[in-house]
Order: sequence, then structure tokens, then C-alpha cells
Amino acid sequence: MICELVKKQRLSETIYDFTVRCPEMAAKAKPGQFLHILCGGDAYLRRPISICDVIGGRDIRFIFETRGKGTENLAKYKIGEKLDILGPLGNGFTIYPEDTDAILLIGGGIGIFPLLNLAKQCKGKATVLLGFRNKDAVLLADEFRAVSKNVFIATDDGSCGYHGFVTDVMQNITASNAVSRIYTCGPTPMMQKIAEMAASKNIPCQVSLEERMGCGVGACVTCTCKVNGANKRVCKDGPVFDGREVEWNG
Ligand SMILES: Cc1cc2nc3c(=O)[nH]c(=O)nc-3n(C[C@H](O)[C@H](O)[C@H](O)COP(=O)(O)OP(=O)(O)OC[C@H]3O[C@@H](n4cnc5c(N)ncnc54)[C@H](O)[C@@H]3O)c2cc1C
Ligand code: FES
Repeated sequence: MICELVKKQRLSETIYDFTVRCPEMAAKAKPGQFLHILCGGDAYLRRPISICDVIGGRDIRFIFETRGKGTENLAKYKIGEKLDILGPLGNGFTIYPEDTDAILLIGGGIGIFPLLNLAKQCKGKATVLLGFRNKDAVLLADEFRAVSKNVFIATDDGSCGYHGFVTDVMQNITASNAVSRIYTCGPTPMMQKIAEMAASKNIPCQVSLEERMGCGVGACVTCTCKVNGANKRVCKDGPVFDGREVEWNG
């Protein structure tokens, strides 16, 4: 689908916040799904980027960090230019409106982006734990606060919020509160630890995996991971899986 870039903001040296006009995709988009974006120039393969938010029922917002040639080319697009985007792709998070106890959303680094729309859909019931390297890397904290019950920030160096990892904050919260469900996206070691801690406390946990992708639609097996003894495609069967079933070292 060809979508116009209607808003562009540079949030830091390497982080860009884009909004594209795409009413058909916006109508279907669920939290945790992603877009597969043709980034232009010599980046021939599309790059997967999570849906961060759906705005006004017709626009999709996504935020990305420039890492290599794909995201660097993408960052050069100007407002009014057109992007070639497939989506929404993947399964997305499953929300259970009947959850009554705390719902924890735990994000690390660029993994926080798909959690914003999820927090909104939790309708004020989400407690959000966001982990960053340091205070300069903290993003979207006020936007999460506006739609969540509580927001806790943790930084590796203690320059903002809790000094340590989001997993420590999770440990404290789950020690003294009943928790219905956990959703997480971020670095693999963080998600593995969260999934293991959740399993040990019998708390259902959905994890959003990140793998390099080719086609993005289940045809090339570039993105295979092991779930419950079987090969699964992160793009088509995921990216969201049950944390108890993911074989982290598989
Ligand atoms: C489902 C999904 C959702 C994503 N959502 C976002 C998002 O919302 N915002 C965002 O900034 N990024 C997101 N990513 C990661 C993003 O797709 C990669 O950063 C991007 O494809 C890198 O492309 P590039 O051409 O810029 O870098 P490349 O030149 O392809 O790679 C640069 C470096 O990044 C590493 N890398 C590339 N792709 C991945 C990957 N999938 N996982 C881990 N490391 C990778 C490479 O190993 C290399 O070290 C997501 C990935 C997936 C699978
Ligand atoms: S990227 Fe091709 S099967 Fe997932």
C-alpha cells in the first residue's frame, strides 16, 4: 500500500517518529502487529517496524531507531512523500477485557513502541514498566502516563527512575500484588527473564519476539524460531507468543 508521510519528528540523534496516512491499515491494526516497510535507496528488502499507535482511525504512527542502511534510508523521507508499506502483519497481542488484577506491560529500549497502543487498549488498567540505558534514552514516558494506571521507569545507570533493570521492578510488583497478565517486548535476555519469572509465579505472559525478516508474510522462513517444540515464523505465527512456550535457546 502506498501511504503518505504526514508527520515526522526526530526524537533523538537516532530515533525518528513517523505518522503515515493509511485508513485501510489503520482500521485493521491491532497492538503488537507490525508494518513491513520498503525503505528506499539500495535497501531492497522491507524492514519490519511495530505499529506504535493508531491516530484518528486513519493514520498509523511508528517509531524507529536508525541501525543500518534500511532505517537510515527511511529516516530521509520528507513529509508529503509516499512510502510503500505492507500491513498490518503478524498476530499482535491478545487482550483479555475480563482481567481484573494488575496488567503489567514491560518494555525495554525500542521494545517500548508497540506497548503504547496496547496501554491505550487496556483502558487505564495497565501498569507500565519501561527500561532504558540512561535518562537521555527515555522516550514516551508522558504519553504512557496519560493512558496508564502507573508508569515506572528504570535505567541501567540510575540517571532516571529506578537504578537497575525492569525485571527488578517486576519482581517487587509481583511480590506484593496480584497480576492477571504480563506483556513484554524488548531485548531477548530481558524477555526471557520476564517469561521465566512469570512462569514461576503462574502469570500468563505474552512476549513479542524480534528476528531478522525477509518476506514478512510467512514465505521464506528467515524468521524461524522454536516454540513448543515446533518451528514457527515470527512474521506470520508471531511476533507475539506465549512466554512459557518459547524455547529461548532453541
Ligand atoms: C516484528 C518486529 C518489529 C520491530 N519493530 C521495531 C520498531 O518499532 N522500532 C525499531 O526501531 N525497530 C524495530 N524492529 C527492528 C528493525 O526491524 C531493525 O532495526 C531493522 O530491520 C534494521 O534494518 P537496517 O537496514 O537499518 O539495519 P541492518 O543493516 O539490516 O542491520 C543493522 C544492525 O541491526 C541488526 N538487526 C537488524 N534487524 C534486526 C532484528 N530484527 N532484530 C535484531 N537485530 C537486528 C543487525 O544484526 C545489525 O547489527 C522490529 C523488528 C521486528 C522483527
Ligand atoms: S520473514 Fe519470511 S517467513 Fe518470516
